[in-house]
Amino acid sequence: MSTLISRQALQSPRSAAGILGLSRFSNTRRTELALKVSSVMPEGLRDNCITYFTQGGSGAVETAIKFVRKITGRSQIVAFHGDYHGVWCGAVSLTTGDQYREGYGPFIPGVIHVPYPYCYRCCFGMEYPSCGVQCAKYVDYVLNTPYTAADDVGAVIFEPQQGEGGYVIPPPEYIPMLKEACEKHGALLIADEVQAGAGRSGKMWSIEYSGVVPDMITWGKGMGSDVPMAGLTMRRDLGEKIRESSQPNTFAANALSAAVCMTNIDILTEDDNALIRRAGELGEHIKGLLNEGAKDTRTIGDVRGRGLFIGIEMVKDKETKEPLDLDSIVQIIMGLLRRGMVMVPCGRFGNVFRFMPPLVLTKEHAEKACEILLDAVKEVEK
Ligand SMILES: Cc1ncc(COP(=O)(O)O)c(C=O)c1O
Repeated sequence: MSTLISRQALQSPRSAAGILGLSRFSNTRRTELALKVSSVMPEGLRDNCITYFTQGGSGAVETAIKFVRKITGRSQIVAFHGDYHGVWCGAVSLTTGDQYREGYGPFIPGVIHVPYPYCYRCCFGMEYPSCGVQCAKYVDYVLNTPYTAADDVGAVIFEPQQGEGGYVIPPPEYIPMLKEACEKHGALLIADEVQAGAGRSGKMWSIEYSGVVPDMITWGKGMGSDVPMAGLTMRRDLGEKIRESSQPNTFAANALSAAVCMTNIDILTEDDNALIRRAGELGEHIKGLLNEGAKDTRTIGDVRGRGLFIGIEMVKDKETKEPLDLDSIVQIIMGLLRRGMVMVPCGRFGNVFRFMPPLVLTKEHAEKACEILLDAVKEVEK
């Protein structure tokens, strides 16, 4: 049998089919999936990329850290305050939430954290747009000024819309400015789309709103829809710098997960991306209802988001923006549970309710959910 397989075939890189690092004897579904994932990447990466599959988002980020080191020969990575990238040793070193870090140090060296563009609570005390997007200028300063100790940065990793950190959307100029700062330094730009991707934002990938082509995308969650399926997709020329079989991974994109992921992609993209476009439209409708309803409340400070990825930031006082106390947050959550609705808070002060429904949520359910939320908030305000 072995004589039927030429030496050349055995050595031929799987990267020709757009997959990296897995068994040379790949299953057919895995190969098909690599091509399908490539076909739904943002323009610029589409049909010109290589994917390394993993079982979850943390693994995709972990892989990104390793590959960046290998590809660029550089050791530092810039990440953002409030971004969540997962829990494995490398990924958690990029994540800033104390609940994920406490007791797990020391973390990997070479990580530099910078502020996320969080306009509602600007750490520079400025206001958009008169700020001139100071937070993007700051990253440029860190990357491109001597004496900041960021002299060896291989990549900047960020969430194009921040999830766990409080459902924050950067101002429109931010990502193009970030890309420019990376290019000046020679650093790669990695968009972590594990949470915002797979159509949730109203586009297949949230970064598509910016027009910027990232060098790498990490993805997961909705691509598998409860089946372990995630990956790191990178520019083809970058993927080609990774030695085949340098990072084997037994179960990644196994036939079952790959088949489910392909079906998910088909569902998301059928009828000219109907489900994805609907997520964008329904999200705007929900934000409209919540913003309108918030006018009659004292504690809904900010409603923000994109697509079915919405944050509701709760405050004691809309003027001072002092975060709502945890007791009141818990009371609201209990009120929601009594009404049959589950909300998990997030954000730096645990005061942001996240609205992350399945993309198939009906308009009626969405409207009911807004009504319930406003009701529960007003009950606690009394
Ligand atoms: C942006 C982002 N990156 C990475 C991860 C880690 O993904 P997983 O839980 O599949 O390891 C998450 C999970 O919430 C995430 O939101």
